[in-house]
Amino acid sequence: MADTTAQANIGVVGLAVMGSNLARNLASREGNTVAVYNRSHEKTDALVAAHPEAGFVPAATVEEFAASLSRPRAAIIMVKAGAPTDAVIEQLTQAFEPGDIIVDGGNALFTDTIRREAAVRATGINFVGAGISGGEEGALNGPSIMPGGSAEAWETLGPILTSIAAVAEGEPCVTHVGTDGAGHFVKMIHNGIEYADMQLIAEAYDLIRRGTGKSPVEIADIFAEWNTGELESYLIEITAEVLRQVDAATGQPLVDVIVDQAGAKGTGAWTVQTALELGIPVSGIAEAVFARSLSSKPAQRAAAADLPGPAEAWTVDDPDGFIEDVRQALYASKIIAYSQGFDEIVAGAEQYGWDIDKGEIAKIWRGGCIIRAQFLNRITEAYAEDPSLVALLTAPYFRDALTGAEAAWRRVVIAAVQGGIPAPAFASSLAYYDGLRADRLPAALIQGQRDFFGAHTYRRIDREGTFHTLWSGDRTEVSAVDTH
Ligand code: 6PG
Repeated sequence: MADTTAQANIGVVGLAVMGSNLARNLASREGNTVAVYNRSHEKTDALVAAHPEAGFVPAATVEEFAASLSRPRAAIIMVKAGAPTDAVIEQLTQAFEPGDIIVDGGNALFTDTIRREAAVRATGINFVGAGISGGEEGALNGPSIMPGGSAEAWETLGPILTSIAAVAEGEPCVTHVGTDGAGHFVKMIHNGIEYADMQLIAEAYDLIRRGTGKSPVEIADIFAEWNTGELESYLIEITAEVLRQVDAATGQPLVDVIVDQAGAKGTGAWTVQTALELGIPVSGIAEAVFARSLSSKPAQRAAAADLPGPAEAWTVDDPDGFIEDVRQALYASKIIAYSQGFDEIVAGAEQYGWDIDKGEIAKIWRGGCIIRAQFLNRITEAYAEDPSLVALLTAPYFRDALTGAEAAWRRVVIAAVQGGIPAPAFASSLAYYDGLRADRLPAALIQGQRDFFGAHTYRRIDREGTFHTLWSGDRTEVSAVDTH
């Protein structure tokens, strides 16, 4: 029987790789004693045996786990999202007492977290949905952590999560994002931006490879060079590594032997679904999600393979100039994706009553998470200068960056179209940019169409009110006091 005196100040439930790494990270920090529990006890035994230095407090049952935690108890659930998480929440709710804290560290849908937080809070126990970004390496050495939940929970959790978070420029990559589901909401936006970032990088690679004929290892050198400038980021860094990798079995570049169908666990789709409900155009993120779906339609792609493309084979006249254009187009499109992501954060905060500090979010994304990058400092600076910024891309730094990149951006999108190269994220980001800056949009015609077939009315640019044209009659315009 394990010693059940309450020795641990934090517990982890679910000891697959992420959970084990998080437990090891917690145990490696001064002041933490970590209780560990896994439904199959072999995993618990294996972790304890493999890391005696961690001083883990193992539990064979949830009751033992609860008994080994000092009050207020705090436990982080690291099991699969959905039913497995619900099951563990139920078990801990039975074993814990009012004032204790249950943390869901998985990628849960934020609306599930809002529901769970309310249900668990009714028992007097705190429930926290915490986005944890950085994969297995981040969990072990320092993730970016985005906890929601109550201020009361943060009082206990804050120092513990701060002890394990990544550190960027001397600051821990963790902050109390906001109440109930705010943490998982912001993690979802992080993932949506991650999808856009990855798609843009993939399009840049594809354009350079097809336009210049350079090999993956040559393009790896280009990305490594880009990683020394404004595009510096974890995703650019690992892209160079992936492109440099040679497949041992064939001697071919690994990227050429990987099946070109992208998977997705769903968080990018959640970002887009939520944006549609909030009325936020996250076109770059959406195109990234759809590009993964399109890539995973082998039957349609095979059936379409013989459809005609550009008559001549496409190559660029000035490879070095084109590569620089692609770099600029990548940076401009990245700015659009982040601006759209932060727009969604603003809209979500308003919809769900969260007080989210956007500058702080950019700060905790500077390290530990998948989108970590120097670039995030520019976002923090932009919101520090103007917290009520109407759109990130209109901040002086980003306005200047877009102005400088605009010509190259257009050349790249034109080249992609002429070359028959799919670049949906580059093209949609440019279309979003042109849409936002247009003085008149064809939405006026859409309003006319809607009024014609549905009497949905329209407003005029020259006077107040709403109007309807009597399209089936003499086509006079009436003030649309009552048109239905
Ligand atoms: C992170 C990652 C991670 C992501 C998985 C699967 O922040 O550590 O975003 O949470 O969900 O790597 O991502 P896909 O949705 O691409 O499958």
